[in-house]
Amino acid sequence: MTSLKWWQSAVFYQIYPRSFADGNGDGIGDFIGITQKLDYLKDLGVDALWLSPHFPSPNWDCGYDISDYTGVAPEYGTLEDFKNFLSESHKRNLRVILDLVLNHTSDEHPWFLESKSSRDNPKADWYVWMDAPPNNWQSCFDGEAWTYVPERNQYYYHYFMKQQPDLNWHNPEVKQAMWDAVHFWLDLGVDGFRLDAIGTIYEDPGLTPHNVPMNLAELRRFSELAQTDEEKKLKDRYWADMFKNQWGQPGTHELMKELRAILDEYEGDRMLVGEDDNIAYMGNGSDELHLVFNFPLMRTEHITPGHIRQNQTERLQQLNALSNKGWPCNTLGNHDCSRIYSRFGDKLHDTELARLNVALVLTLKGTPYLYNGEEIGMTDYMLTDISQVRDTMGSWYYHAIVTDMGVHPEEAMIRTAEMTRDKNRTPMHWSNKPNAGFSPDGVETWLPINPNYREGINVWEQEQNPASLLNYYKRLLKVRKSSSALIEGEYTPLHENAQDYFAFLRISENQTALVILNYSENRLDLDFSNVKGAKDKTLYTLFSSAVRSTASHKAEKLTIAPFEVFIAEVAS
Ligand code: NOJ
Repeated sequence: MTSLKWWQSAVFYQIYPRSFADGNGDGIGDFIGITQKLDYLKDLGVDALWLSPHFPSPNWDCGYDISDYTGVAPEYGTLEDFKNFLSESHKRNLRVILDLVLNHTSDEHPWFLESKSSRDNPKADWYVWMDAPPNNWQSCFDGEAWTYVPERNQYYYHYFMKQQPDLNWHNPEVKQAMWDAVHFWLDLGVDGFRLDAIGTIYEDPGLTPHNVPMNLAELRRFSELAQTDEEKKLKDRYWADMFKNQWGQPGTHELMKELRAILDEYEGDRMLVGEDDNIAYMGNGSDELHLVFNFPLMRTEHITPGHIRQNQTERLQQLNALSNKGWPCNTLGNHDCSRIYSRFGDKLHDTELARLNVALVLTLKGTPYLYNGEEIGMTDYMLTDISQVRDTMGSWYYHAIVTDMGVHPEEAMIRTAEMTRDKNRTPMHWSNKPNAGFSPDGVETWLPINPNYREGINVWEQEQNPASLLNYYKRLLKVRKSSSALIEGEYTPLHENAQDYFAFLRISENQTALVILNYSENRLDLDFSNVKGAKDKTLYTLFSSAVRSTASHKAEKLTIAPFEVFIAEVAS
């Protein structure tokens, strides 16, 4: 196969370290645990791992508030444990990328402690300080974006929680310190970075206030209660307007170019993927980020053939318009949003839809990203008591609506359970033993284990069952790996008016694959005799989620079962 770079053909798997595998039995995931599961990951068939932050952190935002950029959080292990994990991953040909949080540090980072200590210390200008709040900006997590510090008699800016002060990226020393950390991990051999919240690095220099007639808590509440189309549109507009001066500001492209140049100094095609869907962050296609996520694909209530087609047309057009052509990157879930199984299910055909949706991510053109636990169909878990909440954005909201808006605590808890990201971060289910085999029996895990691990949603039971979701993932990943069309082929949509199903070709130099995803409960009789390049109009099955009696099919009369995923090689 091909001249593609490793990060173009790889399937990435996101590990949320706190919840993946607890190697030392303290109720929290760690590097010993992750390393023990590398054979599992290899066997699953993924090629690269993205680790959510593993750095020392007071955990106000589950590791996204970093207090040491070159360390390892003690609860996850030591730097030696990390190095061992990295070398064991590489031995198995699994690449590893880390999470790089550029916009902010923890308020316990020594840089901030120094910066806040006086107005004239050497790091006085490393964060964004003002004598008084210059505007009504909100933090997207916890209310006012400006927080007072008595030592300086000044306010600092934070886009996220007050425990996550924004760095002042206009200061060259900040840049240098962060680039030193980047070198540290690249020198150790990591294969790249996922860049957190890059859109928020710079703010509007004019500090223009927002014009939304409410604060963050009120807007969240307004959004929850929005019923009519008009209210829903209004809340979308308010969200966009509230933060429009706090992200997407000039300066980021230059910064991404600098970072890219650092990675390019290293051998091994180190890569950058941005937590942003803006293709502009790929520069000309080879001078900024290697990838940005296709978030618009998942920004919908239902995955439908029409939505996918429109998304692909727009996305691929934009990527192809870059002078060096950008490469797509598809995902349907991560640690910040509802789990795929819950979010895109319809309560009647959740398993079928989960199977269709992963097939979608693995067959569309581009690099797929999977999120740990989705391969066994883990679902959202709704917490019932505020004392269980670990996502501080959730506990902040609970207290804001109970205290400031008089919402009844019971209702507030239901709302909090829905909005908090804890629901999609509960520990991985390794078996049907107590604590789902994540931690030893009797240990209190950092977030509760979803009790549905006893209902077959666990790795051990699914490994025994050939028909399980886990084995389905493995089969699909294997098919993808052996198909040049699925890895590198161009995308051509077919039957573009179909409502029930999404059909398309992936065409590489040596292979044409036809993919049909039937998103309906109808049996379909389809005619693909016009498929380009199909000489004798025969389709050879590469994969089917249904039971098929023959391996080859006539293109002019193809029957597709309800909710079937069908992938075939087109005879040429
Ligand atoms: C995006 C991360 O994915 C999210 O988990 C985090 O809370 C924010 N950025 C702040 O770092």
